[in-house]
Amino acid sequence: MKSCRPRDGRSLFAIRSLAFFVVIQICSLPLWGQSSPNARDLLSKMTLEEKVAQLSQLPGFPVPDFIQQVGMKPEDMVRKYGAGSVLWVPTTKEINRWQHIAVDESRLHIPILFGLDVIHGYHTIFPAPIAMASSWDPKMVEGAQSVAAKEARTAGIQWTFGPMVDIARDARWGRMVEGAGEDPYLGSAMARAQVLGFQGADFSAPDRVMACVKHFAGYGAADGGRDYDSSYIPEEAMWNVYLRPFKAAVDAGVGSVMSAYMDLNDVPATGNRWLMHDVLREAWGFKGFVVSDASAVHSLIVHGYARDGDDAAYKAFSAGLNMDMASGTYAAFLAAQVKQGRISMKEIDAAVLPILETKIRLGLFEHPYADEGKLEQVLNAPESLQIARTAVQRSVVLLRNEKNLLPLDKTQIKSIAVVGPLADAESDLLGMWGAMTRPGKTVSILQGIRDKVGDAVKVEFAHGPNIRRDIPSFFENIPFVPIKEQPKQTEEEARKAFDDAVATAKNADVTVLVMGEIALMSGEAASRSSLKLSGGQEALLEAVVATGRPVILVLVNGRPLEINWAAEHVGAILETWYPGNQGGNGIADILFGDATPGGHLPVSWPRSSAQLPLYYNHTRTHAPEDAPNFTSRYWDISSKPLYPFGYGLSYTSFAFDNLKVSQAEAKVGSSLQVSVDVANTGSRAGDTVVQLYIHQRAGSASRPVRELKGFQRVNLAAGAKQTIHFTLGPEELQFWSPVKKTWVVEPEQFDVWAGEDSTAKLHGEFHLTP
Ligand code: NOJ
Repeated sequence: MKSCRPRDGRSLFAIRSLAFFVVIQICSLPLWGQSSPNARDLLSKMTLEEKVAQLSQLPGFPVPDFIQQVGMKPEDMVRKYGAGSVLWVPTTKEINRWQHIAVDESRLHIPILFGLDVIHGYHTIFPAPIAMASSWDPKMVEGAQSVAAKEARTAGIQWTFGPMVDIARDARWGRMVEGAGEDPYLGSAMARAQVLGFQGADFSAPDRVMACVKHFAGYGAADGGRDYDSSYIPEEAMWNVYLRPFKAAVDAGVGSVMSAYMDLNDVPATGNRWLMHDVLREAWGFKGFVVSDASAVHSLIVHGYARDGDDAAYKAFSAGLNMDMASGTYAAFLAAQVKQGRISMKEIDAAVLPILETKIRLGLFEHPYADEGKLEQVLNAPESLQIARTAVQRSVVLLRNEKNLLPLDKTQIKSIAVVGPLADAESDLLGMWGAMTRPGKTVSILQGIRDKVGDAVKVEFAHGPNIRRDIPSFFENIPFVPIKEQPKQTEEEARKAFDDAVATAKNADVTVLVMGEIALMSGEAASRSSLKLSGGQEALLEAVVATGRPVILVLVNGRPLEINWAAEHVGAILETWYPGNQGGNGIADILFGDATPGGHLPVSWPRSSAQLPLYYNHTRTHAPEDAPNFTSRYWDISSKPLYPFGYGLSYTSFAFDNLKVSQAEAKVGSSLQVSVDVANTGSRAGDTVVQLYIHQRAGSASRPVRELKGFQRVNLAAGAKQTIHFTLGPEELQFWSPVKKTWVVEPEQFDVWAGEDSTAKLHGEFHLTP
């Protein structure tokens, strides 16, 4: 076992990405394994090295740094000692090959647990998590993730590295796209739904995978929105905001947790005992296991937190980290530390036990191999495409619709221009986590529109100038990564593409302008300082609008973008995020009225990146923004968002009335019932999201101006009315007090609002008494 030079995490990502291109293959028959052992019996038979191997996740592709660290190839380590897990094995055939090494050749025949990032789909790619959160429809999200689970499990993956539940209040941070946005209540609902979708009632079922909630914790608060940068989060914000979705995932039975990359209050999350021991195990009673992020144990050296590999392994292990993802640091150093008496065998056993128990629970000893013969049928199930299409319809958010420009009536239109650098995009509709889908499976927006209107309407396409990152992504420098930059153009080529696009728009009855971010512009290592429509898109937008023809702006992106001009001058704006394989079909359904938009924003939409971080649930402060003589914290711009958290339009309209709180006064500890009537006041059926907000007027700490405490997506026929009921109990009314250093429900006066977004006006109140 050798030590090795410090490295950053990039080499691992780079090599991991090589795995993306290998297509899934089908050929071998199922082989059945042993019957399930008892975890403690198994443990009693294991050598120290075999135990440490169970604490190691090995890369499923060649990583020179790992080999250098451990002194042998990952496969040889499996033969010699076994392995806890292997990640990113690209095909089912390869998974079975690795599994045969573990089961047939290792001394104790302990099967491998195979892990992969199945974030919003395996083969069928659903809308990105921020899009699914925009549906405010946890049942739909659960259904989508259960399809993902079934596909992945059939392919031999038993463990997904999701859901990502990091609260993101700063749209500069590239990974906002992977989570549910800024709010702990909505974030908790989405965390729960995803865990249930992946795991079902019990992840031992053959069509489920074990979930891994990540990145524990505080990654979304990176300084300046810069990915991997340090987070400084006071304890009250940790408990009240950042930790809440993790707690929801733990309560939903999540089997594993992934530690984050960044420093949290100067202690890297992967070496942070407060997080992994005090919070996760002591306060929440979590019984599963914690894996590091990729290479993060070794990165403790890079952070300047650990002196060397030996120190890194010791610090991560002592902090409560069970499994080292792919850095080989545990494999290189832990056994020696036991022999030196620095770590006890009892501690090692306690760390290994939940990993063995997981393998037993997953049925891996009985069924270690994937049935390659079943794969095609499961991956190509037609109902999965329909679920994906419905997910798109329910996720898009209509931001603007002047004079009811949408929906388009295809019987009244003779020609449509579909214009913009993402109009014909396929892999860019998937975002960063679409590696396991197959080429040709994704329907572009152009194709979706063509299929929708048929031959009756002329559809002309113009791409416009290409868009690119200014600084390339390290993901893109790897051959065969399925997401790419658009090629560089000369000024002349860009000018011509621009002119063609404007001319195409000029000749059409209506233009659908598809703009935003290619997949490489959002996600890991994809933070940005400006949220402007990049690469000349803004100029193209303004030129197309100047043609005087009606324009619909369809946004494809992973975060809110700066669209202030569009918000005043473009007829309609539809936010579609990264909609996945069925993007083109689902968006065409919305554009032509076969489905009605009902998504609502899971983030406050900034006017400018200079406003960030921006979130609706801030405290009132000395000078609230609703004061008549002080309306902005800036003198050059409003400090309010362009669109508030929770906002979204429909093709119909809704009115709210009759907000009732069951008691004007109730005792601390009791529950109150709140009801509100919602009516569809328009002329067609549609969905809205009824949202309930509260505010505690005084207490041991200042409380946010508003906090979401209930929501329900409802469908109403034209003219229909429904009463929606919510419960406000101790769970909703409590907060972690920085003064009392614990959870409290305080006897105070509370406001309640109900409506369609976080600026809802319909108001009620109640008082809690001691
Ligand atoms: C790094 C990412 O931060 C994490 O989200 C992912 O699960 C791992 N790599 C494994 O791919």
